[in-house]
Amino acid sequence: MAITTKLSTTFSPTVPPKTNGSLPRVDGPLKVSGGAMYTSDYNLPGMLYAVPVCSTIANGSIVTIETGRAEAMPGVKAVYHRGNIGKIFRTAPAVGFSGILDERRPPFEDDTVRYYGQYVAAVVALTFEQATAAANAVKVTYKSEKPDVRDHLDTDAKPKVDSHRGDPDAAFASAAITVDQTYVTPTETHNPIELHASVANWDGQNFTLYETSQAVVNHREVLAQMLGIPNENVRVISRFLGSGFGGKLWPWPHSVLAATASRNLNRPVKLVVTRDMMFQNVGHRPRTQQRVRLGAGSDGKLVALMHDSLNHTSILDDYSEGCSEATSYSYSTANLRATSDIVRRNVGTPTSMRGPGAVPGLFALESAMDELAIKLKMDPVKLRLLNEPKIDEGINLPFSSRHFVECLNVGAEKFGWANRDPKIGAMKKDGLTLGWGVAGCSWIAERMATESTVELRSDGTARVSTATQDIGTGTYTVLSQIVSEKTGIPHDRIEVVLGDTNLPPGPISGGSWATASIIPSVVDAVEKAQKTVFSIATQATDGPFAGKKEDSLAFSNGRVHLKEQSPESGLPFEQILAQGNIRAASGQGKSEGTFGDPKKKFSTHSFGAQFAEVSWQPETARLRVSRVVTVIDGGRIMNPKPARNQIEGAVVMGVGMALFEATRYDTRYGAPINNNLADYILTTNADSPAIDVTFLDYPDMVLNPLGARGVGEIGLAGIAAAITNAVHHATGVRVRELPVRIEDLLQPTPAQLRT
Ligand code: MOS
Repeated sequence: MAITTKLSTTFSPTVPPKTNGSLPRVDGPLKVSGGAMYTSDYNLPGMLYAVPVCSTIANGSIVTIETGRAEAMPGVKAVYHRGNIGKIFRTAPAVGFSGILDERRPPFEDDTVRYYGQYVAAVVALTFEQATAAANAVKVTYKSEKPDVRDHLDTDAKPKVDSHRGDPDAAFASAAITVDQTYVTPTETHNPIELHASVANWDGQNFTLYETSQAVVNHREVLAQMLGIPNENVRVISRFLGSGFGGKLWPWPHSVLAATASRNLNRPVKLVVTRDMMFQNVGHRPRTQQRVRLGAGSDGKLVALMHDSLNHTSILDDYSEGCSEATSYSYSTANLRATSDIVRRNVGTPTSMRGPGAVPGLFALESAMDELAIKLKMDPVKLRLLNEPKIDEGINLPFSSRHFVECLNVGAEKFGWANRDPKIGAMKKDGLTLGWGVAGCSWIAERMATESTVELRSDGTARVSTATQDIGTGTYTVLSQIVSEKTGIPHDRIEVVLGDTNLPPGPISGGSWATASIIPSVVDAVEKAQKTVFSIATQATDGPFAGKKEDSLAFSNGRVHLKEQSPESGLPFEQILAQGNIRAASGQGKSEGTFGDPKKKFSTHSFGAQFAEVSWQPETARLRVSRVVTVIDGGRIMNPKPARNQIEGAVVMGVGMALFEATRYDTRYGAPINNNLADYILTTNADSPAIDVTFLDYPDMVLNPLGARGVGEIGLAGIAAAITNAVHHATGVRVRELPVRIEDLLQPTPAQLRT
């Protein structure tokens, strides 16, 4: 592997190094050469294929399941349903980040059907084609009732108060300028290129489960509970992921079906969820409906902020999107209330989708801020600067590191915001009308408990391992960087092992927290391994360090040397190990999580500013996002290359959120009808704007010793609002329900034209 070696020296936690040079992904060659093993690439001897039978109603019950024809078909080994699958347990309530799943009902638990596509049976056969053919031959009859998949959300229940301060109702009632609008985001479906899949192998005592999982440790915990066996009898492996966007955080029913079938038949079983099933039973971002009320003085200072959110959920599971995640700390105001509630529909259970909560929440809040700026006749950047808080007013704690003002200022400068003519439709270029919009964004920064092992080996290599996984963002690479930075060992001599529950427990690949979580643990593990090398060196009967004190030694450029002397004066670490006939010095790293810590002294978040340009051609109703400038305050950026890739990808996804993505349910049958990549429209290269990404690079030393917060989800937050704000600037049409439809722009309703 031709990878530039970074020869950094000792690292001091008080003076963190600034951003490294960009390092290409260490797993890149394996991926582009086809050597990386994704879940569905595993083909075990004697393996069978499972194909589920999905319900064709969304509300009602199963009356009969006729399996005779399917059972008689070639290659069929079994047809499972409620009558013969055997025991599948429910999980106990989750404890912290252990034992989590969103769809809690085990497959086939009862005869009630609550959403379209719910698994009602599963065929196992010698080949995928045989299983598919037989699944189509299973005849299920239903007693069907009309499903409730209505778009409009309402409830009489008293909502949950997520955040409250002052007297927002009174302050809003007496505010000089007010905005009171409702914003809607549609159901969105995760569409990672890699389909969900499970390859389950039962050996009579132990399960090995190859899973498309963003959280192997939790997956093991959940599957052990559902299968009714001890944790240590389940090994979950997820070496490479073709992304997940949150959809692969928690186990879904297909996983326990594959495992149960494998145990029943004593053969390995592969189950790959098809693209259309992915719209039904592996989660989605729920539809949200959010009323935002802003009250301001004529000077633009916010005096009241109210944010009341609803999201749909399934009949059985309480999934709350958490739209007010960023509401309480984004802006300064003495009076604020954020509430939320859920509304049941006959849909599959929703789940986290990239930036859950804050992403739809900031569409609403940042749209409302734009509407307020227009009412105030104030520049929208200025309005945000004016309402910058000094502390996190939601929890009354200082921010560990917040540079939102600088994000706005740098972004405005890069975008050329000073040239913006605020008049609607006034800006023209090449015969097109331009619209310029801005939005702020933020995302939660936390750490999860992490254990890791680092070995420094007598062949001159290092091995670092933890049971986290690389969702595709660069976790393999960042682990290699931490070890290289601390030891000076080049990347081509560092082995990174992830995605296996046999390793020390690591964090979920979620929340954009993996990097921040693994840093303190791996730093700890490296230091302990180095200490062991020092101990071997000083205990030697001869050699330059015999009889010296351990703390007089340093480890740099892969060499052990006396602190006061240069690395060249010392010995390569492998020589010290080899001379002692020791294969490896090992360190076990451990770090605590920060999530929900009641002793927290700081509010930890990432921030950013999104600037978008749209071009509008009214004659042909052609709308394009032509340019995006995004400035991210994400702590120290460990590796700008994959970090930029994350933000660019998020912006592309944001264009989809603003203009294309929406899962539509057939109101008669409750089926997600655009359940394929032709009808569920995603941003293509041709739709993608020019994207300018800037990282501010202020290390956040509160979060971990390298100051990294992590990036990914932050890049999607705010983008949709920046785009719809730009659409308003170009066309005068305020789109409050995503995605923007051409019809909205052709025939604006009076309400939309009202600013
Ligand atoms: Mo992310 S939605 O936490 O995978």
